[in-house]
Amino acid sequence: MNPEVRRAAQILRAGGLVAFPTETVYGLGADAASAVAVARLYAAKGRPADHPVIVHFAGAERAFEWAREVPAAARQLAAKFWPGPLTMILKRSARAKDFVTGGQDGVGLRVPSHPVAQALLREFGAGVAAPSANLFGTVSPTTAAHVRQDLQGKVDLVLEGGASEVGIESTIIDLSAAKPVLLRPGKVSAQEIESILQQRVSLRTADAPRHSGGLARHYAPRTRMRLVPAHQLDAEIAKRAASVAVLAFSRPDERVDYWIRMPRQPQAYAQRLYAALRELDGAGCETMLIEAPPDTPEWTAVTDRLSRAAG
Ligand code: TXA
Ligand code: MG
Repeated sequence: MNPEVRRAAQILRAGGLVAFPTETVYGLGADAASAVAVARLYAAKGRPADHPVIVHFAGAERAFEWAREVPAAARQLAAKFWPGPLTMILKRSARAKDFVTGGQDGVGLRVPSHPVAQALLREFGAGVAAPSANLFGTVSPTTAAHVRQDLQGKVDLVLEGGASEVGIESTIIDLSAAKPVLLRPGKVSAQEIESILQQRVSLRTADAPRHSGGLARHYAPRTRMRLVPAHQLDAEIAKRAASVAVLAFSRPDERVDYWIRMPRQPQAYAQRLYAALRELDGAGCETMLIEAPPDTPEWTAVTDRLSRAAG
């Protein structure tokens, strides 16, 4: 057992805050059974207290104790995707208090696969409430350095675990009502879920449970950011050349001071996305221009994050 992980579990037991790596993004963890610890977590993030938070576990059995009903669909998805980048909303059991569900009847459950997250959750042995380890309104952290930029001095320990492999937050599927609803797209796609469940998955509707990732502008950088269709990128650059930072698929353009070239493969793109947005945001330009990815299903999750960041 890594001594840092043992120390992290002790901090959680004492009501403290531990940032830890997951395969999606870094999480800011607190004991999900402790109102005081969860309140500290919200304060550190600067997040409104009525927002629900996902509870993390080492395995499905523990996770399902937090649900009062576990539908067959949840078991099928757990068998296929856990541990991994999928969060399920299920009807809560008495263990899931209002301070983790935001007073809603559903609780968000996730079993991450990152070895450091797994080690921590096994050592702690209970549920860990964890939103992404960034300040409310900034992009999620995919390295320990990102976490320190945002939360230095506000957390008791940051566990190191390299760059997150998936790079964007988990897929969220709501299984608390009669029909499955996708609340947040991610690496696990709606199509994959449909093929396991043999049933249609609908997209978020207006009266779906409130969740902060669903706010129109949530993952926002400070610099003004515009999502530009590929065929308009050149014209936009010509208009603004001097003070523009660009995220695009093509090679750097000489007129532009700051250019990050992104991979054409959606998962490789997602992996680098938040680090790239932080870097562009730090470049001190007036505007960030982002070349819009293709309008195809494999880009749904990336396009969702880019649209939110652009507001
Ligand atoms: O990949 C992830 O899910 C990361 C890592 C750390 O696990 N966590 C994460 O947490 O992205 P957070 O809090 O940044 O985003 C979770 C989203 C929020 O939009 C929250 O409102 C929603 O999930 N959520 C959590 N519990 C919910 C619930 N009971 N009902 C509806 N939405 C819920
Ligand atoms: Mg977040």
